[in-house]
Amino acid sequence: MPEIAVNPLHPSLGAEIAGVDLGKPLDPATREALQRALAEHLALVFHDQSLTPDQYLAAVTAFGPPMRQHYSQHHMPGYADIGLVWHRNGQRPAERWHTDHTNRERPPAATVLYGVEIPSAGGGTSVANMRAAYAALPEDERRRLDTLRTVNSLDRDHPDTLPEDREKFGKPIVHPMVRTHPVHGSRAVYFHITKALCIEGMSPEDSRAYMEDLIGRMIRPEIVYHHQWRKGDVLVIDDRATMHRAHGDYDRSQSRVLWRIIVEGDRPVLA
Ligand SMILES: [Fe+2]
Repeated sequence: MPEIAVNPLHPSLGAEIAGVDLGKPLDPATREALQRALAEHLALVFHDQSLTPDQYLAAVTAFGPPMRQHYSQHHMPGYADIGLVWHRNGQRPAERWHTDHTNRERPPAATVLYGVEIPSAGGGTSVANMRAAYAALPEDERRRLDTLRTVNSLDRDHPDTLPEDREKFGKPIVHPMVRTHPVHGSRAVYFHITKALCIEGMSPEDSRAYMEDLIGRMIRPEIVYHHQWRKGDVLVIDDRATMHRAHGDYDRSQSRVLWRIIVEGDRPVLA
């Protein structure tokens, strides 16, 4: 068995993985153990990593094949599968709860972030357990949510989206609002509030109001792991059963640079 230690970070989700150098090739048993740990704990933290872009891209294949991110103006030069999360190129921190890239037919299984430059305070990332959120809903609401589907496209409030990206990634994609995790077998609430144009059969306004209401009721501190970044951290987020958000509460005269990779997952289904 591979020598990895999985140390839970929070009662609901999140675990630190010790004993893995992501800069070295990972053997099949370690890759399998990491996939299982992600499905179980939903957020994995690796500390003190030192990675080149090529090493980072190779390491994340443990969770799936890297997939292209749709805001191509933020790609790392020379590395189109790494996105730069960086306020100094005009990005605003994604402070709303969401899961990534729901406008894709096969949305990411995971989002991976690598902390390259970290401000001295604030600027954390929070991850909410949407498996626990689903389980805590009243039974009649769970049954109703099981029948609902969202229609997804690119965010309307990103005016800097390039026309070629809108062309490639903007066509409407329908996903269930509750999905079954392909590894874990459990159900989780699944939607991206600003990528969902509407819930099928509901007006855009009613859809938005319902999703806002759901987020307000579901995401309580008991189901949230807050990651305070240290330089060299790698955070892997299971996009199939969580939502996450950034925190913009840091000094903008300091740099905050995360390298982001998303890896392809399955088409969401409710089984
Ligand atoms: Fe995100």
